[in-house]
Amino acid sequence: MADNISKIPTHVGIIMDGNGRWAQKRLMPRSSGHSAGMKRMIALAQKAKDLGVKYLTVYALSTENLSRPQEELDKLYSLIRTYFIKNVDKLIKQGAAVKVIGDLSLLPKDVTEVIQNGVNKSPKDAEFTFIMALAYGGRSEIVNAASRAVAEGLELTEQNLSSRLYTAGVPDPDFIIRTGGELRLSNFLMWQAAYAELYFTDTLFPDFTNGKFEKALLDFSSRKRRFGKV
Ligand code: FPP
Repeated sequence: MADNISKIPTHVGIIMDGNGRWAQKRLMPRSSGHSAGMKRMIALAQKAKDLGVKYLTVYALSTENLSRPQEELDKLYSLIRTYFIKNVDKLIKQGAAVKVIGDLSLLPKDVTEVIQNGVNKSPKDAEFTFIMALAYGGRSEIVNAASRAVAEGLELTEQNLSSRLYTAGVPDPDFIIRTGGELRLSNFLMWQAAYAELYFTDTLFPDFTNGKFEKALLDFSSRKRRFGKV
């Protein structure tokens, strides 16, 4: 199928929804859904890199998710400490970079350190960058960027604002995929998504195979992007 994808997006975003329901359907704890989701996330990063996508941003934890039961959050944090680090190291060894966007001060200190360690090891001139949105909220990102521009005495222009977002220097996403059946963006890349093509699927994230990812990319390559022009 990859051969039929005529246009590979530079930057893909994925809202990875449906881990909990995937587990519940199997009478397993929600945390099993997150483990399965983590494995899928790493496999998709590898696939995106192999297909020539330059940036993949995954919505791993929103600021709203931080109010989930502590037990569920602890499981997500332990997944980062173990599975995530090992696999991110693998990506970095292949020349990929890892970046994190969000308010890391809201996460446990040791988790932040582990992530920061991966980020620091990343090459500067990578051909593929894997971006994790963690403790991320799009609106507060915009408010913070605007406050910084104002504090610097700058005029509020699109350029001055976008260069103060977490994603400064990263091109806007061309394509955003949401799994799990909901038809919304849930505060993901609110500024950056202005002209993104959107793709929604009922597939629960752990079932979003590489083949389904390629099918989504095939859909993207058939779209005509006009950016408001005729
Ligand atoms: C939404 O599914 C998913 C999340 C809140 C977390 C996404 C996390 C992963 C894919 C695993 C990797 C995790 C980290 C932190 C690196 P949901 O639990 O809301 O599912 P539901 O809508 O079926 O309840």
